[in-house]
Formats: sequence, structure tokens, C-alpha cells
Amino acid sequence: MIRRALLVSTLLASSALALSPSPASAAVVAPAPALHVTMRPDGMDVRTGQQLMRVTALAAGALRVRIGLDGTLGEDASWAVPEAVRHATTSVKPLLNGFSTPDLTATVDAAGRLTVRDASGHILSQDAEPVEKRHNGFALAKAMPQNDRYFGLGDKTGPLDRRGMAYTMWNTDAGFQETTDPIYKSIPYYIQVAPDGRASGLFLDNTWRGFFDFGKTERDTLRFGAEGGPIDYYVIAGSTVKDVVERYAKLTGPSPLPPLWMLGFQQSRYSYMSADEVRGIAARYRKDQIPLDAIYLDIDYQDRNRPFTTNPKTFPDMAGLVRDMKAEDVRIVAITDLHIAAAPGQGYAPFDTGMAGDHFVKAANGRVYVGKVWPGPAVFPDFTRAKTRDWWGGLYKSFADDGIAGFWNDMNEPAVFTYPSKTMPLDNIHRIEEPGFQTRTATHAEIHNIFGMENSRATYEGLLKLRPDERPFVLTRASYAGGQRYAATWTGDNMASWNHLRMTVPMLLNLGMSGFAWSGADVTGFGGAPSADLSTRWVEIAAFQPIFRDHSAVGTPHRELWVDGPQHEAIRKRFVEARYRLMPYLYAVADETARTGLPMMRPVFMTYPDALDSGCDDGTTFLVGDKIMVAPAPFPESTGTYDICLPKGGWYDYWTGKPAQTVARPGSQGVRAMQVARETPRLDHLPVFVRAGSIIPRQPLVQSTMETPKGALELAVYPGDDCVGLLYADDGRSLDYRRGAYLRQTIRCTVTPTGLAIEFGAREGHYQPWWQGLDIVVHGWTGSAPKAVLGGNAVAVVADAGAGTVSIHIPDQASVATLRLDR
Ligand code: GLC
Repeated sequence: MIRRALLVSTLLASSALALSPSPASAAVVAPAPALHVTMRPDGMDVRTGQQLMRVTALAAGALRVRIGLDGTLGEDASWAVPEAVRHATTSVKPLLNGFSTPDLTATVDAAGRLTVRDASGHILSQDAEPVEKRHNGFALAKAMPQNDRYFGLGDKTGPLDRRGMAYTMWNTDAGFQETTDPIYKSIPYYIQVAPDGRASGLFLDNTWRGFFDFGKTERDTLRFGAEGGPIDYYVIAGSTVKDVVERYAKLTGPSPLPPLWMLGFQQSRYSYMSADEVRGIAARYRKDQIPLDAIYLDIDYQDRNRPFTTNPKTFPDMAGLVRDMKAEDVRIVAITDLHIAAAPGQGYAPFDTGMAGDHFVKAANGRVYVGKVWPGPAVFPDFTRAKTRDWWGGLYKSFADDGIAGFWNDMNEPAVFTYPSKTMPLDNIHRIEEPGFQTRTATHAEIHNIFGMENSRATYEGLLKLRPDERPFVLTRASYAGGQRYAATWTGDNMASWNHLRMTVPMLLNLGMSGFAWSGADVTGFGGAPSADLSTRWVEIAAFQPIFRDHSAVGTPHRELWVDGPQHEAIRKRFVEARYRLMPYLYAVADETARTGLPMMRPVFMTYPDALDSGCDDGTTFLVGDKIMVAPAPFPESTGTYDICLPKGGWYDYWTGKPAQTVARPGSQGVRAMQVARETPRLDHLPVFVRAGSIIPRQPLVQSTMETPKGALELAVYPGDDCVGLLYADDGRSLDYRRGAYLRQTIRCTVTPTGLAIEFGAREGHYQPWWQGLDIVVHGWTGSAPKAVLGGNAVAVVADAGAGTVSIHIPDQASVATLRLDR
């Protein structure tokens, strides 16, 4: 250890204050206590009076900051960041008042305030004030550069940009409206983005009730903190938003590759009341030829709302139902809430075995806690115990044997009906028995925000044990940072209103930037009764969102896609079909997500930073991967003409395949002049664009992802700069892809003086795909039909001057090859 115990009050004062302007509030306080900086090989310890701050470089672009107000750092443990990641370090270069890594510098000023800069000296994160002790908790204050924007915090309501908003971190079962806070998840993580696209991230790894105030109470000061627990946070430096998203995924773990069927259309309802009703729903989808991959069973399939039972009258033969549905290429997903009915002596195994194994959360008096939820009196598994998670996972055996494909973990905030707080008492006792943690008890106040995540973890890990070769599908409502490793999520009980449809975009975008790539909002709105137009528009937009699940509340009108008559059904069907045709592209994005953490649904500025200063990145437009942009009206009910900002570089209309029609929009204050597409809304149309420089793989229409497409893989080529497309395929369900049974291939296109060259890269993996041929369609082709040559041989070309396309059919290209099109 390099010991450079600097008595630095004076020494640092001049240099550090010059570097970091001190906020007005600090200027008048008494002289700062003496500051001691001790360099460590991987960072530094900073002592200010009683307080100890340890700053550790985990990697060149990631710092961990731990602060002990009483001089001790406490337990080094985390539910979000795995031990190996937490304890990875990199060596740093000492500076007079801090240290540097290749990607950042961390320095302290005379008052012990930390400033983190990127390699070119831009400030990424800067303390505005020293740490404040608040009762048993704390608050930190960071400076907010005037033009920076703030994203993240999961699916909290409100605008895409969190600036000017304040939020509470406390998982809550709340039917919500636009300003409701808190709701179901707590993800104490934000990304800060400067106007030029430079970005950084900050993750406060604290599970207690906490808050984030993005300059709402005090302009330009970001305050965050918690009511208890450690001061333990991470600063992520990245040169772009994408870097930060990827580094956060490394910190907390990316979402694993989902089963392919998760990307299909899913039909849910609270509730389908019998197996026959489920069969009828599937049959109607098949009869009307609307693609469908899954039907959900909500609580009424159970016996008296008791998890892990089935109603013997209405669902007498679950295995039979699953078998029949499988024959229709439909998977069954079943809800399994965590509250176990308190039903002693009734032969209800989850309760009996749970009691025998001492698996339930205790009240402060040491007795098993009983709270009222759907089954009436219920008990709550103590998911912070590895043994309890194991036992919980085992409860899925019979359903897994029946072939139920996926499981839905709801009410896991946990929701409890009888208290105004909507959850269990804060002094309830959990036991932590978990590698990396001291074995100890903890109050519910500490565990509450991770309870849902540990519930979904128990389900995920249990399913992996029961079906070691199947990718589990778990859908959770409550979660915490890192919960994306175990489950997909949805935004909870929304409403059938135009405003709720509009809110789906910022909510899902912020979830994606907070690690949850796989998310959806109840399509058509959970509560209330949508108009036919609203449902249709909702289906259109959700067809491009990560999880496409139609769901509705008990007592509301049915929402299956046919309920509003043939005209609406026809439009909805067309959009579901569009999604199924796009499946190869979506699946390649899913592969990218599993490798990098980049979500399927991205804000436009994530890929095209010039959207940031265009004055039109308003949280209504979104990208699917990097190449497709979906642009609903800012107010989706409005029939008024609106402008869609098209980032520089050229775009095609996805539906016509022709270059997008644009008009020049003059600049105004704070808004750059740019090309825009002008749209007058029509109910049967949603503007979707493809980036010039894309190769989008598509497939022939199927009715379910279980069906093998018949015909060739289509490669839609949209020439432009950096033209690239990715193919990914595997069996869609097992873990064999981890052992090489996958196919990954990059295809590029280059505009040449005489035409176009399409280059197939080397194929990775040894999976044999379903296609044998490729239908290549080049868009935006003008002039005479080209000659096409593949590996020295001429191939036939069909030109369509009206559509501006040329089409070429060639065999699958499993190895490096170039197709040349020359005029
Ligand atoms: C909760 C869920 C909702 C579900 C209902 C019944 O309200 O959020 O999706 O349908 O419980 O299980």
C-alpha cells in the first residue's frame, strides 16, 4: 500500500478548489476537518474527521465508493453486484489529491468532496456537499450541470428525463397514474447524459427505503440517500450512453438469452376461468390466423387462490391442457404468487413443507407472520435464505412436469391487503443466509426492496434445477437492481387510457436503461374499458416493444384481438404479423442483449446522439435495436399532424421500403434545424423507419415461434453508411447455444461506384438454421437493373422499378462470400 497520509487541509485547498468550484453552501461553513488521503494500489481511503470514504477502481471505467460516517465501512455484501465483480480491482496511478485510471480520475478537495472526471477532464460526477447524516440514514448531494439529462430508475412514472423530478425507492403495489410514486420496483440507478452525448452512471447499492431528487427541491442539486444501510455506490464512466449501459450490465449482470417464444404475442386475462375457455381462446386465434405464442393463467386457475394448486373442477387436467395447447403451438404461463395460504392441517403441501422447513418470515414476536392476500391469511417465504429459495424452487416440480412453460411472480413487493402501507410490518424478521453476507437477521425495512427480486431468483434457479436444459421464463412485478438476471418484468396495473399508452414508452425506455431489457406494459391497459381505437393503437405500438402481452383486469371487457369487430381485428392482426416477420431481427437483438445488456427498446439518442440536441427526443419515439425507429404521435389519440425527427444519416420507410419522405424543419431557440418526416395520423398506420445502412433479416409468416418458417430467410438491404446486419439463430429453447449450437453471422453492404457489394462474414457456431435460401431485397435501387455475381457466378435479378427494389434469390451463405450488384 502506498501510504501518503497527507495532512492536506492547506495543501489541497489551493489545488483542489481550483479544480472543483465549491458550492455556495460550503463557502460559509467552519473550516473543514483535516483530511487524510491514503493511497491504495486500487484506489484511496479518505478520512475527514470521523468519516472514512474508500474509493476503489473496479475497472478502468468503474469506481466503487463506500463511506462509513463513523469510520468503519461495515459489511461488504450486495444482492445486486456479485462478489467476484465487487472484488475485482484494477491498479491506479496516484495523483496529489486522488488517482487516475486510463478512463477516469478521482480526486477529493479540501472538504473531502469527490470529483470524478473522464479521461479528457470532463466532470462525470461531483459532490455538491459533504455527506449528510439523517437519523439512521444519509443523503448525498451531487452537482447537476445545467444541460445534463437524467435517465434510469426503472419504470418510475413521469417524463423520460428525470430532471426536476423526485422519487421514493420503495416497492409498492400501486395501481398507478402518471404521477404515482413509488410503484412496484426500486432500481436506484441513473444515467447522466451531457448534451454532446457523454454519459456516466451512478448506482446506489442500498436496499432500504430511499430517495432520488433530481433538482426538484433544490435546482441543480441531485440528492439521493436512504433511511438506513450502507453508503455504497458505483460510478460508471463511459464515453457514450451505450458504454454506460454495457458497464452497468457487467456490474449487475445482463439478462440471459430468453426462450424465443417470449418474443411472440402473448394473451393474458385476469382470468381465463377454465381449461375449456383457454382452449377456446387458442382455437379462435388459430381460426382467425393471428399469431400467438402463449396464454397466461391468472389466479383463478387455482384452488381457492392457493399457489401451486389447480381448481379440480375448472382445470381438472393441467398436463392435458398443456399438451393440447402445445399441439396448437401455444405455451402456457401460470401465475404463482409468493403468498402461501396459511392452511394448517389441510394437506396443503406448500404450507406444510414450508412450516416443517421453517421457511416463512417471522413477525417481531418471533412467530410466523400471517398477512392477508388473495388466499386470505397467508405466510411469506423468507427468500433471503438460500435454503428457502431452494425449497421454493422445488414447489414448481409438478407444474414443470406438466410442461407449463413459464411462471409469473406477482404481488411480490410483497403486497399485503390489510395495512395502509400495503405491505408487511417493517419490524418483521428475515434471515439472511447467503454467501457473501454475514449470517444474520434483518428487518423487513432492509429486505423489502429486494424481496421481489429474491422471489424471482428462487423461481429462476428452481426452474434451472428442474429443467436444466430449458431457458427459464419468469415474469416478475417487483424487483431491484440486478433483477434482470432472473426475470422479465411488466409495469404493473396500468389503465386503458390514451395517457397510459403514451406512458408505456418512457417507462419501458427507462427500464431498458436500468438493466431490464425484457419488459412490457399490459397491452390495451389493465383497468378500465378501452375504446376500440385505443386498443388498436396500443397493439400497433406494443408490437415493437420487448414483451407483447395483452392483459386485462377482472370485470373489464375482454381484450382478445377480435373483440372489437373485423375491421379492428384486421389492423391488429397485420401488426402482430409484422412482428412475427421481424422475428429474426428481434432474436438477433436478443442475442446482443444477452452479450452486452443493451436493451431491445432504446431511446433514439442511445444510438444517434444527435437526437439529444434536436429538441425532439421527447420520449415518444423509440428504437428497436439500432436500426428500426418507431414514431407514434406525441399524444397517441391526437389526429393532428406531427413531425418526426430523423437523426442524420438517412432513413427508409419500413412499410414501403422507400427512402423516407422528409421536409426541412427550420431551427429555433435550442432546436436544431433538421430533416423531419411529417405524419398525419391514420388509425391503420404507425410510422416505422429503417436506418440507411441496415440489413434486416425477416422470415415468412408463422402462427407461432414453434412453427418452422417455410421458405427463405429474407434479407432486406437498405444501403447507407456503415451498412450492417446480424443473423442469430439457435434452437430457441435450450442452453445448447452455450455449447456452440448457435449461428451468428455479420453481413455488410458497401455502396460501390457501380452498385453494391453484400459481404457475408464467417459464421460462428455450428447450428443448422431452418432456412436454406436467402431472398435478398435491396431497397432504394435506382437506375437500370444490375448484374449480380456471387463467387464468380452470375445470379438472376428481378428489378421492380416502381418499388425501387432489386431481388435476388441465392442459397444460404454459411461462409465468407460476396454478392456484387453492378449496373
Ligand atoms: C395484480 C397484477 C395483475 C393480475 C392480478 C391478479 O393486480 O398486477 O396483473 O392480473 O394481480 O392476479
